[in-house]
Amino acid sequence: MSELQVLISREQIAHRVTEMAAQITRDFAGQAVIFVGVLKGAAIFLSDLARQVPLDSTFDFIGVCSYGQQAAAATPNGGWDSTGEVRLTKDVEHSMAGKNVLLVEDILDTGLTLTYIKKILLNHQPRSLRVVALLDKPSRRQKPMQADYVGFTIPDKFVVGYGMDYAERFRNLPDICILPNPVLSSEK
Ligand code: PRP
Repeated sequence: MSELQVLISREQIAHRVTEMAAQITRDFAGQAVIFVGVLKGAAIFLSDLARQVPLDSTFDFIGVCSYGQQAAAATPNGGWDSTGEVRLTKDVEHSMAGKNVLLVEDILDTGLTLTYIKKILLNHQPRSLRVVALLDKPSRRQKPMQADYVGFTIPDKFVVGYGMDYAERFRNLPDICILPNPVLSSEK
């Protein structure tokens, strides 16, 4: 683990998550919200964020993978190479109709995942749909996509920790760290 470099410390994360929660609380004052986490990376962020939003709240989760991710899982390095093809692996369990949906992501990168998920959720005809992304890597965008709430804008580095993985490892790190030499054909 010694090659990992801290990019955003646990203290910085905690401070920013508190600010984001306060903003969401103000924006939806007096209303109910549903937090929809994108598995698996957003799980830790969602749990920290939602506990600081004292509104009438429920949770749901959605899962996706890309064709490239599946194909790369069979390769020795276990990494993945995004081809842009996204597939639903787990749908939400509740109707989003008429609800204030907060779509929670750990990182907004190419924008392919959120473009796909937003389309699915908008079909439910929610009352509102807002994207909450802890990290934003705008230099990597392939689809026009903006989050409504962004924690940190980061450079094009491969990051792990606080829910984010490399070949499923490092999700449990409390800090967000740069992994300097990930074996990937397309950096993510
Ligand atoms: C990551 C992240 C987002 C997505 C963003 O998920 O959690 O869901 O990639 O990338 P994009 O903007 O390029 O689509 P990943 O597919 O690594 O799965 P995970 O959440 O299970 O780690």
